[in-house]
Amino acid sequence: MNIIKVNLGKHSYDIIVGSDIIKFLGKYLVKLNIGKDAYIITNAKIKKRFGINLEKALYSAGLSVKFKTIPDTEKSKSIETAYSVIRDISQYDKKRRIFIVAFGGGVIGDLSGFIASIYKRGIPYIQVPTTLLAQVDSSIGGKTALDLPQAKNLIGAFYQPKLVFSEIKFLNTLDKKQLRSGLAEVIKYGAIKDAQLFSYLEKNYKNILALSPSSLEYIVKCSSEIKAGIVSSDEREDKGIRTILNFGHTTGHAIEAACGYKAYNHGEAIALGMIIAADMSKCLGLIDEQTFNRIVKLIRAVGLQTEIRNVPQAAIINAHYRDKKFIGKKNRFVLIKGIGKAKIAENIPLELIKEAIKKRIAG
Ligand code: GLY
Repeated sequence: MNIIKVNLGKHSYDIIVGSDIIKFLGKYLVKLNIGKDAYIITNAKIKKRFGINLEKALYSAGLSVKFKTIPDTEKSKSIETAYSVIRDISQYDKKRRIFIVAFGGGVIGDLSGFIASIYKRGIPYIQVPTTLLAQVDSSIGGKTALDLPQAKNLIGAFYQPKLVFSEIKFLNTLDKKQLRSGLAEVIKYGAIKDAQLFSYLEKNYKNILALSPSSLEYIVKCSSEIKAGIVSSDEREDKGIRTILNFGHTTGHAIEAACGYKAYNHGEAIALGMIIAADMSKCLGLIDEQTFNRIVKLIRAVGLQTEIRNVPQAAIINAHYRDKKFIGKKNRFVLIKGIGKAKIAENIPLELIKEAIKKRIAG
């Protein structure tokens, strides 16, 4: 079992990563003393698959348990869903000491954190992530969020969980699409911060795709350490440190938006965004051809696409302008100057960005 600390003064918390550890969750919660009554926000699929494991772990520590299931779609990150869950909590909350358990992937984590941040001006919550993407990224860092029709994540607050508990066994039933989506973020950590992790992925991607528990545990541990370190140094993204987590995300978000959040999920889009950012790094002389090829090869090896299909270049470029970091000449991209070394670059010529995108369009 691995214990990783997110150091944020009185808002510090642990990330626990391990295989077959859910039975120890109750013990951690008793020690944390954040409440007696667990209000678990999840979806029907996760509840059916793993609800009993979580329930047992909490009962055995003397905690009461109430499940609330919400639909498993991005649409659940809405004011309407948040309002209906909050009303349900308030019905249940009679003389109780409630804390929230976010039990699922990124949607459930973002929604649950947001609800925890506003109900009674803030109640404790913990993250029990069940997807690779949530374990390596969205459960850590305290950015909570809801979507608005015009853009994702427009509503939200920084509100840190009291614990992140990553049970590797919950990844057993992930389908390949979900696994690959999480792997894109793991490749990102290797590219921006950890050359050793990148090499590990190059050598072990087949084991990871075969859901080997030890390989999964290793990549979740390394990724959690990297994210914890970055968040500890720059919680609110105002020191320019947390920004490097956006490698591949500027164009990745634009691809997601340009396809109406349909053809590409988050991980698939940021994989393409990483190739485009790596290409720009190469054209600016920051990395050589061989380094660029390593990135493309690894992304391809894990089964992520390396070419954009059915999304026009113009739509992708236009979608960049909705990003607040991309205003006229004053754009900002995270580039790399080697595997494991990120660099923030501003004012990249539009022609270079367009060219890098064009090269990725299939056909
Ligand atoms: N909740 C995800 C983050 O803070 O980055």
